[in-house]
Amino acid sequence: MSVTPTPGDKFTFGLWTVGWPANDPFGDPTRPALDPVESVHRLAELGAYGVTFHDDDLIPFGSGDADRAKHIERFKAALDETGLKVPMATTNLFKHPVFKDGALTANDREVRRYALRKVMRNLDLAAELGADTYVFWGGREGSESDAAKDVRAALDRYREGLDFLADYVVERGYNLRFALEPKPNEPRGDILLPTIGHALGFISTLEHADMVGLNPEVGHEQMAGLNFAHGIAQALWQGKLFHIDLNGQRGIKYDQDLVFGHGDLLNAFFLVDLLETGGYEGPRHFDYKPARTEDITGVWQSAAANMRTYLLLKERAAAFRADAEVQEALQVAGVAELSTPTLGAGETPGDLLADRSAFEDYDPEIAGARGKGFVRLNQLAVEHLMGAR
Ligand code: GCO
Ligand code: MN
Ligand code: MN
Repeated sequence: MSVTPTPGDKFTFGLWTVGWPANDPFGDPTRPALDPVESVHRLAELGAYGVTFHDDDLIPFGSGDADRAKHIERFKAALDETGLKVPMATTNLFKHPVFKDGALTANDREVRRYALRKVMRNLDLAAELGADTYVFWGGREGSESDAAKDVRAALDRYREGLDFLADYVVERGYNLRFALEPKPNEPRGDILLPTIGHALGFISTLEHADMVGLNPEVGHEQMAGLNFAHGIAQALWQGKLFHIDLNGQRGIKYDQDLVFGHGDLLNAFFLVDLLETGGYEGPRHFDYKPARTEDITGVWQSAAANMRTYLLLKERAAAFRADAEVQEALQVAGVAELSTPTLGAGETPGDLLADRSAFEDYDPEIAGARGKGFVRLNQLAVEHLMGAR
Protein backbone atom coordinates (compact mmCIF):
# COMPACT_ATOMS: atom_id res chain seq x y z
CA MET A 1 0.00 0.00 0.00
CA SER A 2 1.41 3.38 -0.98
CA VAL A 3 1.46 6.35 1.35
CA THR A 4 2.04 8.78 -1.50
CA PRO A 5 -1.26 10.54 -2.22
CA THR A 6 -2.80 10.34 -5.67
CA PRO A 7 -6.10 11.74 -7.00
CA GLY A 8 -7.55 8.23 -6.63
CA ASP A 9 -7.42 8.71 -2.86
CA LYS A 10 -9.97 11.55 -3.25
CA PHE A 11 -8.27 13.98 -0.91
CA THR A 12 -9.73 17.47 -1.01
CA PHE A 13 -8.98 20.72 0.81
CA GLY A 14 -10.93 23.89 1.45
CA LEU A 15 -9.35 26.98 -0.09
CA TRP A 16 -9.83 28.55 3.36
CA THR A 17 -7.64 25.92 5.04
CA VAL A 18 -4.24 26.37 3.40
CA GLY A 19 -5.30 29.95 2.63
CA TRP A 20 -5.82 30.93 6.27
CA PRO A 21 -3.41 33.79 6.98
CA ALA A 22 -3.41 32.78 10.68
CA ASN A 23 -5.18 35.74 12.20
CA ASP A 24 -6.89 34.83 15.46
CA PRO A 25 -8.86 36.80 18.08
CA PHE A 26 -5.60 37.66 19.85
CA GLY A 27 -3.21 38.32 17.01
CA ASP A 28 -2.57 39.54 13.51
CA PRO A 29 -1.98 37.29 10.53
CA THR A 30 1.42 35.61 10.49
CA ARG A 31 1.32 34.79 6.79
CA PRO A 32 0.42 36.69 3.62
CA ALA A 33 -2.82 35.94 1.79
CA LEU A 34 -2.63 33.04 -0.66
CA ASP A 35 -3.92 33.31 -4.20
CA PRO A 36 -6.53 30.53 -4.74
CA VAL A 37 -4.90 29.82 -8.09
CA GLU A 38 -1.60 29.09 -6.36
CA SER A 39 -3.37 26.84 -3.84
CA VAL A 40 -4.90 24.85 -6.69
CA HIS A 41 -1.48 24.30 -8.27
CA ARG A 42 0.27 23.41 -5.03
CA LEU A 43 -2.46 21.01 -3.91
CA ALA A 44 -2.41 19.30 -7.29
CA GLU A 45 1.37 18.86 -7.01
CA LEU A 46 0.90 17.28 -3.58
CA GLY A 47 -1.51 14.69 -5.00
CA ALA A 48 -4.89 16.09 -3.99
CA TYR A 49 -8.04 15.28 -5.94
CA GLY A 50 -9.90 18.52 -5.49
CA VAL A 51 -10.60 21.81 -3.78
CA THR A 52 -13.67 23.26 -2.11
CA PHE A 53 -14.57 26.86 -1.39
CA HIS A 54 -16.86 29.40 0.22
CA ASP A 55 -18.10 32.02 -2.24
CA ASP A 56 -15.97 34.65 -0.48
CA ASP A 57 -12.77 32.54 -0.61
CA LEU A 58 -12.85 32.82 -4.37
CA ILE A 59 -14.61 36.11 -4.94
CA PRO A 60 -13.91 38.75 -2.28
CA PHE A 61 -17.11 39.93 -0.60
CA GLY A 62 -18.63 42.90 -2.39
CA SER A 63 -16.89 42.33 -5.76
CA GLY A 64 -18.74 43.74 -8.75
CA ASP A 65 -19.99 41.46 -11.54
CA ALA A 66 -17.00 42.05 -13.82
CA ASP A 67 -14.47 41.28 -11.07
CA ARG A 68 -16.50 38.28 -9.99
CA ALA A 69 -16.35 36.88 -13.53
CA LYS A 70 -12.58 37.40 -13.64
CA HIS A 71 -12.00 35.54 -10.37
CA ILE A 72 -14.10 32.64 -11.60
CA GLU A 73 -12.32 32.54 -14.96
CA ARG A 74 -8.83 32.38 -13.38
CA PHE A 75 -9.98 29.66 -10.99
CA LYS A 76 -11.49 27.60 -13.80
CA ALA A 77 -8.28 27.93 -15.82
CA ALA A 78 -6.28 26.61 -12.86
CA LEU A 79 -8.69 23.68 -12.50
CA ASP A 80 -8.33 22.89 -16.20
CA GLU A 81 -4.53 23.03 -16.03
CA THR A 82 -4.28 20.78 -12.99
CA GLY A 83 -7.29 18.50 -13.39
CA LEU A 84 -8.39 19.30 -9.84
CA LYS A 85 -12.12 18.85 -9.18
CA VAL A 86 -14.57 20.88 -7.09
CA PRO A 87 -16.76 18.25 -5.41
CA MET A 88 -18.17 20.62 -2.77
CA ALA A 89 -18.90 24.29 -2.25
CA THR A 90 -20.46 26.35 0.54
CA THR A 91 -21.48 29.87 1.49
CA ASN A 92 -19.78 32.24 3.87
CA LEU A 93 -22.70 33.24 6.08
CA PHE A 94 -20.59 34.17 9.10
CA LYS A 95 -17.83 36.69 8.34
CA HIS A 96 -19.57 39.91 7.39
CA PRO A 97 -21.12 41.87 10.30
CA VAL A 98 -24.53 41.58 8.62
CA PHE A 99 -24.53 37.94 9.80
CA LYS A 100 -23.65 38.70 13.44
CA ASP A 101 -26.99 37.29 14.58
CA GLY A 102 -27.06 34.49 12.03
CA ALA A 103 -28.16 34.13 8.43
CA LEU A 104 -31.04 31.73 7.78
CA THR A 105 -32.08 32.12 11.44
CA ALA A 106 -31.30 35.80 12.07
CA ASN A 107 -34.04 37.58 13.96
CA ASP A 108 -33.97 40.24 11.22
CA ARG A 109 -36.07 39.02 8.27
CA GLU A 110 -34.17 41.13 5.73
CA VAL A 111 -30.92 39.44 6.73
CA ARG A 112 -32.57 36.06 6.15
CA ARG A 113 -33.73 37.09 2.68
CA TYR A 114 -30.27 38.44 1.86
CA ALA A 115 -28.70 35.17 3.06
CA LEU A 116 -30.99 33.13 0.81
CA ARG A 117 -29.93 35.22 -2.18
CA LYS A 118 -26.24 34.80 -1.29
CA VAL A 119 -26.67 31.03 -1.12
CA MET A 120 -28.65 30.90 -4.38
CA ARG A 121 -25.94 32.78 -6.24
CA ASN A 122 -23.26 30.40 -5.04
CA LEU A 123 -25.43 27.33 -5.70
CA ASP A 124 -25.43 28.42 -9.36
CA LEU A 125 -21.64 28.58 -9.32
CA ALA A 126 -21.29 25.27 -7.47
CA ALA A 127 -23.43 23.55 -10.11
CA GLU A 128 -21.47 25.21 -12.90
CA LEU A 129 -18.19 23.92 -11.44
CA GLY A 130 -19.56 20.39 -11.17
CA ALA A 131 -19.92 20.13 -7.38
CA ASP A 132 -22.35 17.49 -6.12
CA THR A 133 -22.38 18.50 -2.45
CA TYR A 134 -23.32 21.85 -0.94
CA VAL A 135 -22.38 22.36 2.71
CA PHE A 136 -24.28 24.38 5.30
CA TRP A 137 -22.22 25.19 8.36
CA GLY A 138 -24.36 27.43 10.55
CA GLY A 139 -21.53 29.10 12.42
CA ARG A 140 -23.58 32.16 13.33
CA GLU A 141 -26.93 30.38 13.66
CA GLY A 142 -27.29 30.46 17.41
CA SER A 143 -27.03 32.83 20.35
CA GLU A 144 -25.26 33.84 23.51
CA SER A 145 -28.51 34.70 25.28
CA ASP A 146 -31.46 32.38 25.77
CA ALA A 147 -33.68 35.48 26.00
CA ALA A 148 -32.60 36.75 22.59
CA LYS A 149 -33.36 33.69 20.47
CA ASP A 150 -36.60 31.78 20.15
CA VAL A 151 -35.04 28.43 19.30
CA ARG A 152 -38.28 26.87 18.02
CA ALA A 153 -38.88 29.81 15.70
CA ALA A 154 -35.23 29.66 14.62
CA LEU A 155 -35.63 25.97 13.70
CA ASP A 156 -38.79 26.87 11.75
CA ARG A 157 -36.80 29.45 9.78
CA TYR A 158 -33.85 27.06 9.32
CA ARG A 159 -36.24 24.49 7.88
CA GLU A 160 -38.01 27.09 5.76
CA GLY A 161 -34.69 28.25 4.31
CA LEU A 162 -33.39 24.75 3.55
CA ASP A 163 -36.72 23.62 2.07
CA PHE A 164 -36.74 26.70 -0.15
CA LEU A 165 -33.14 26.20 -1.29
CA ALA A 166 -33.74 22.50 -1.95
CA ASP A 167 -36.74 23.48 -4.07
CA TYR A 168 -34.49 25.86 -5.97
CA VAL A 169 -31.95 23.09 -6.66
CA VAL A 170 -34.69 20.76 -7.86
CA GLU A 171 -36.29 23.44 -10.03
CA ARG A 172 -32.94 24.27 -11.66
CA GLY A 173 -32.16 20.59 -12.17
CA TYR A 174 -28.83 20.83 -10.32
CA ASN A 175 -27.12 17.61 -9.28
CA LEU A 176 -26.52 18.86 -5.73
CA ARG A 177 -27.21 17.41 -2.31
CA PHE A 178 -27.02 19.40 0.91
CA ALA A 179 -24.76 18.45 3.80
CA LEU A 180 -25.32 20.10 7.19
CA GLU A 181 -22.25 20.55 9.38
CA PRO A 182 -22.91 20.39 13.13
CA LYS A 183 -20.82 22.30 15.66
CA PRO A 184 -21.62 22.91 19.33
CA ASN A 185 -20.22 26.43 19.74
CA GLU A 186 -17.71 28.96 18.32
CA PRO A 187 -18.23 31.52 17.01
CA ARG A 188 -21.66 31.65 18.71
CA GLY A 189 -21.91 30.74 22.37
CA ASP A 190 -24.36 28.03 21.38
CA ILE A 191 -24.92 26.97 17.77
CA LEU A 192 -28.15 25.40 16.50
CA LEU A 193 -27.84 21.75 15.39
CA PRO A 194 -24.84 21.29 17.71
CA THR A 195 -24.14 17.61 17.08
CA ILE A 196 -24.65 14.87 14.49
CA GLY A 197 -27.64 13.63 16.47
CA HIS A 198 -29.37 17.01 16.59
CA ALA A 199 -28.81 17.47 12.86
CA LEU A 200 -30.15 14.00 11.99
CA GLY A 201 -33.29 14.70 14.01
CA PHE A 202 -33.78 18.04 12.26
CA ILE A 203 -33.21 16.59 8.77
CA SER A 204 -36.05 14.13 9.28
CA THR A 205 -38.45 17.11 9.40
CA LEU A 206 -37.39 18.58 6.04
CA GLU A 207 -39.49 18.54 2.91
CA HIS A 208 -36.60 17.16 0.84
CA ALA A 209 -35.09 15.05 3.62
CA ASP A 210 -33.76 12.61 1.02
CA MET A 211 -31.42 15.22 -0.47
CA VAL A 212 -30.11 16.49 2.87
CA GLY A 213 -27.39 14.70 4.82
CA LEU A 214 -24.36 15.55 6.92
CA ASN A 215 -20.86 16.93 6.71
CA PRO A 216 -19.58 16.03 10.19
CA GLU A 217 -16.22 17.41 11.34
CA VAL A 218 -13.91 15.41 13.59
CA GLY A 219 -13.12 18.28 15.95
CA HIS A 220 -16.67 19.49 16.27
CA GLU A 221 -18.01 16.28 17.79
CA GLN A 222 -14.93 16.02 20.00
CA MET A 223 -15.54 19.59 21.22
CA ALA A 224 -18.82 18.18 22.54
CA GLY A 225 -16.96 15.30 24.19
CA LEU A 226 -18.38 12.81 21.72
CA ASN A 227 -16.81 9.82 19.96
CA PHE A 228 -16.48 10.88 16.31
CA ALA A 229 -16.22 7.33 14.95
CA HIS A 230 -19.53 6.49 16.66
CA GLY A 231 -21.20 9.55 15.16
CA ILE A 232 -19.92 8.68 11.71
CA ALA A 233 -21.11 5.10 12.10
CA GLN A 234 -24.62 6.34 12.85
CA ALA A 235 -24.53 8.79 9.93
CA LEU A 236 -23.49 5.92 7.63
CA TRP A 237 -26.15 3.67 9.11
CA GLN A 238 -28.79 6.27 8.30
CA GLY A 239 -27.43 6.81 4.77
CA LYS A 240 -26.56 10.41 5.68
CA LEU A 241 -22.79 10.60 5.41
CA PHE A 242 -22.74 12.86 2.34
CA HIS A 243 -19.32 14.43 3.06
CA ILE A 244 -16.77 14.61 5.88
CA ASP A 245 -14.39 17.20 7.39
CA LEU A 246 -11.22 15.57 8.68
CA ASN A 247 -8.95 17.28 11.19
CA GLY A 248 -7.59 16.92 14.72
CA GLN A 249 -8.82 18.09 18.12
CA ARG A 250 -7.45 17.52 21.62
CA GLY A 251 -10.37 17.38 23.98
CA ILE A 252 -13.13 19.77 24.93
CA LYS A 253 -11.80 23.23 24.15
CA TYR A 254 -11.85 25.80 21.35
CA ASP A 255 -11.98 24.51 17.75
CA GLN A 256 -8.37 23.57 17.08
CA ASP A 257 -8.62 22.43 13.45
CA LEU A 258 -5.32 20.53 13.83
CA VAL A 259 -3.86 18.29 11.14
CA PHE A 260 -5.79 15.03 10.84
CA GLY A 261 -4.45 12.58 13.43
CA HIS A 262 -2.74 15.29 15.49
CA GLY A 263 -5.53 15.08 18.06
CA ASP A 264 -7.15 11.83 19.19
CA LEU A 265 -5.04 9.47 17.09
CA LEU A 266 -6.71 6.24 18.23
CA ASN A 267 -10.14 7.61 17.32
CA ALA A 268 -8.68 8.66 13.94
CA PHE A 269 -7.42 5.10 13.42
CA PHE A 270 -10.87 3.62 14.00
CA LEU A 271 -12.43 6.35 11.87
CA VAL A 272 -10.24 5.51 8.88
CA ASP A 273 -10.93 1.82 9.43
CA LEU A 274 -14.66 2.63 9.33
CA LEU A 275 -14.50 4.92 6.29
CA GLU A 276 -12.45 2.40 4.34
CA THR A 277 -14.66 -0.57 5.16
CA GLY A 278 -18.05 1.06 5.74
CA GLY A 279 -18.98 2.00 2.20
CA TYR A 280 -18.16 5.74 2.27
CA GLU A 281 -17.12 6.75 -1.24
CA GLY A 282 -17.10 10.53 -1.00
CA PRO A 283 -14.11 12.85 -0.77
CA ARG A 284 -11.74 12.72 2.18
CA HIS A 285 -11.95 16.43 2.86
CA PHE A 286 -9.49 18.17 5.17
CA ASP A 287 -10.85 21.15 7.07
CA TYR A 288 -7.86 22.09 9.18
CA LYS A 289 -5.87 25.22 9.85
CA PRO A 290 -2.10 25.26 9.32
CA ALA A 291 -0.81 26.32 12.76
CA ARG A 292 -0.14 30.01 13.31
CA THR A 293 3.52 29.20 13.96
CA GLU A 294 4.06 28.03 10.37
CA ASP A 295 5.36 29.94 7.37
CA ILE A 296 4.32 29.06 3.85
CA THR A 297 6.68 26.06 3.78
CA GLY A 298 4.94 24.81 6.90
CA VAL A 299 1.56 25.31 5.25
CA TRP A 300 2.38 22.87 2.46
CA GLN A 301 4.08 20.49 4.89
CA SER A 302 0.91 20.46 6.97
CA ALA A 303 -1.29 19.90 3.92
CA ALA A 304 0.88 16.92 2.96
CA ALA A 305 0.80 15.70 6.57
CA ASN A 306 -3.00 15.35 6.50
CA MET A 307 -2.89 13.06 3.48
CA ARG A 308 0.10 11.05 4.65
CA THR A 309 -1.45 10.50 8.07
CA TYR A 310 -4.67 9.31 6.48
CA LEU A 311 -2.82 6.86 4.23
CA LEU A 312 -0.66 5.59 7.09
CA LEU A 313 -3.78 4.99 9.19
CA LYS A 314 -5.40 3.23 6.24
CA GLU A 315 -2.36 0.97 5.94
CA ARG A 316 -2.29 0.32 9.71
CA ALA A 317 -6.04 -0.41 9.80
CA ALA A 318 -5.71 -2.90 6.93
CA ALA A 319 -2.82 -4.63 8.74
CA PHE A 320 -4.95 -4.81 11.89
CA ARG A 321 -7.81 -6.47 9.99
CA ALA A 322 -5.46 -8.94 8.27
CA ASP A 323 -3.68 -10.06 11.46
CA ALA A 324 -4.67 -13.64 12.41
CA GLU A 325 -4.38 -12.85 16.12
CA VAL A 326 -6.73 -9.89 15.68
CA GLN A 327 -9.22 -12.12 13.89
CA GLU A 328 -9.07 -14.58 16.74
CA ALA A 329 -9.48 -11.77 19.30
CA LEU A 330 -12.47 -10.42 17.36
CA GLN A 331 -13.95 -13.89 17.52
CA VAL A 332 -13.44 -14.10 21.28
CA ALA A 333 -14.97 -10.63 21.67
CA GLY A 334 -18.03 -11.75 19.71
CA VAL A 335 -17.90 -8.72 17.45
CA ALA A 336 -19.41 -10.50 14.44
CA GLU A 337 -22.14 -12.07 16.55
CA LEU A 338 -23.78 -8.66 16.93
CA SER A 339 -24.77 -8.91 13.27
CA THR A 340 -26.97 -11.93 14.04
CA PRO A 341 -30.56 -10.79 14.63
CA THR A 342 -31.73 -11.17 18.22
CA LEU A 343 -34.89 -12.95 17.12
CA GLY A 344 -35.23 -15.88 14.75
CA ALA A 345 -36.92 -15.33 11.39
CA GLY A 346 -40.61 -14.73 12.08
CA GLU A 347 -40.20 -15.31 15.80
CA THR A 348 -43.15 -13.84 17.71
CA PRO A 349 -43.41 -12.64 21.32
CA GLY A 350 -45.23 -15.92 22.01
CA ASP A 351 -42.33 -17.90 20.55
CA LEU A 352 -39.84 -16.03 22.71
CA LEU A 353 -41.98 -16.56 25.80
CA ALA A 354 -42.02 -20.28 25.00
CA ASP A 355 -38.24 -20.43 24.67
CA ARG A 356 -37.11 -21.55 28.15
CA SER A 357 -33.44 -21.28 27.16
CA ALA A 358 -33.93 -17.52 26.80
CA PHE A 359 -34.99 -17.02 30.39
CA GLU A 360 -36.05 -19.81 32.72
CA ASP A 361 -33.03 -22.00 31.94
CA TYR A 362 -30.65 -19.13 31.22
CA ASP A 363 -27.99 -18.45 33.83
CA PRO A 364 -27.21 -14.73 33.87
CA GLU A 365 -24.59 -15.34 36.61
CA ILE A 366 -22.47 -17.50 34.33
CA ALA A 367 -22.85 -15.07 31.44
CA GLY A 368 -22.12 -12.12 33.72
CA ALA A 369 -18.90 -13.68 34.95
CA ARG A 370 -17.50 -14.37 31.47
CA GLY A 371 -14.69 -12.02 30.37
CA LYS A 372 -15.06 -10.33 27.01
CA GLY A 373 -11.44 -9.83 25.96
CA PHE A 374 -12.11 -6.31 24.69
CA VAL A 375 -8.98 -4.85 26.25
CA ARG A 376 -6.74 -7.39 24.54
CA LEU A 377 -8.41 -6.52 21.24
CA ASN A 378 -7.92 -2.82 21.84
CA GLN A 379 -4.26 -3.35 22.70
CA LEU A 380 -3.78 -5.16 19.39
CA ALA A 381 -5.21 -2.08 17.67
CA VAL A 382 -2.88 0.20 19.62
CA GLU A 383 0.10 -1.98 18.68
CA HIS A 384 -0.81 -1.92 15.00
CA LEU A 385 -1.25 1.84 15.21
CA MET A 386 2.20 2.16 16.78
CA GLY A 387 3.79 -0.05 14.16
CA ALA A 388 4.68 -2.59 16.85
CA ARG A 389 3.09 -5.44 14.90
C1 GCO B 1 -15.14 25.46 11.47
C2 GCO B 1 -15.95 24.99 10.33
C3 GCO B 1 -15.83 25.65 9.05
C4 GCO B 1 -16.76 25.04 8.02
C5 GCO B 1 -16.64 25.73 6.76
C6 GCO B 1 -17.63 25.22 5.77
O1 GCO B 1 -13.91 25.46 11.41
O2 GCO B 1 -15.74 25.69 12.45
O3 GCO B 1 -15.56 23.68 10.14
O4 GCO B 1 -14.53 25.54 8.60
O5 GCO B 1 -16.49 23.71 7.76
O6 GCO B 1 -16.79 27.09 6.99
O7 GCO B 1 -18.71 26.05 5.79
MN1 MN C 1 -13.59 23.30 12.81
MN1 MN D 1 -15.66 22.12 8.83
